[in-house]
Amino acid sequence: MQDSLVSPDNLQIIHKGLQIKLQVEEIKKGLNCHNKTISPKFLYDEKGSVLFNQICKTEAYYQTRTEKRILESSSKKISEILGRAVNIIEPGAGNMQKIRTILDVYQPLGYLGIDVSQKEITNAGYNLAIDYPRINVIGVVGDFYQIENEDLEQWLPNSVPRAAFFPGSTIGNFEPDKAVSFLKRLGKSIGQNQFAIIGIDLKKRTEILNLAYNDPEGYTKDFNLNVLQRLNRDYNSDFDLTKFKHRAFYNEEAGRVEMHLVSIANQMVSLGGDIFKFKKGETIHTENSYKYSRKSFSSLVQAADFAIEAFFTDTETYFAVAVIKFSPQKT
Ligand code: TRP
Repeated sequence: MQDSLVSPDNLQIIHKGLQIKLQVEEIKKGLNCHNKTISPKFLYDEKGSVLFNQICKTEAYYQTRTEKRILESSSKKISEILGRAVNIIEPGAGNMQKIRTILDVYQPLGYLGIDVSQKEITNAGYNLAIDYPRINVIGVVGDFYQIENEDLEQWLPNSVPRAAFFPGSTIGNFEPDKAVSFLKRLGKSIGQNQFAIIGIDLKKRTEILNLAYNDPEGYTKDFNLNVLQRLNRDYNSDFDLTKFKHRAFYNEEAGRVEMHLVSIANQMVSLGGDIFKFKKGETIHTENSYKYSRKSFSSLVQAADFAIEAFFTDTETYFAVAVIKFSPQKT
């Protein structure tokens, strides 16, 4: 996008702003744990978002293309479930590519995408508004967790039903109890009897999963290591990127792919005035990606007062797109 271009009439960009409050404390807390962790949200800075888009294009990472195929073949049915005039909300919208499979067959009234990356929101929002001139596109730069219902009410007419779009198996990056609270929150932001479209990575052979998180091109490795560079830049730490290695593997017992950064030497790192010691072989746990079966996914959403309305998969049942309905017993 060029600055000289006029913003299309159907586009609105909102800067909710990220509360860059002292996240240092959160990072320190994670690094002080017996099993060191860094919250996955720190993976997604501007460079992290670029690398993530590269991961999605690799042969090894089957998830993105499989989900796209499922969305393409089920978009008609999904649109029938949604009905006519809805506003679609997408937390973590990224490059806004996936929603296109739906917009190509179905014109909702509006689309509101939220992402922490300003670049993604501005560029992707612009392109979407140009390509779908009849849809009101709202791009919000911010963190879904920092967006309140009043914000949504201000941006979207309350009389129009809402639907949520949450593809990419991002739901699997939450611990199951956090996934439930996330879904509850999502349910409240769309309202009773409204729908959410969720992408889920299904349980499958370990080799396939291990390859997907260890792509031969090395984008996942770069993506994982980038978090250290980001901490060095934004929080003045002195991680030596040559002294950490990417490791990702499927932990069958826990039903999740785990991503770690392994210290290849005994070393010390300073961050925010503190020193953190690493033993050779010790790891920082950076992300989990839970894999579900239809059954375990169904229990998960039920715990958040959703029920499965439709469940679409590919022929190999590698991935699923579920349409779930928010049906709380009592509100
Ligand atoms: N939602 C994606 C997934 O769980 C995120 C992801 C893909 C990811 N590859 C990654 C996260 C590598 C961290 C590192 O599949």
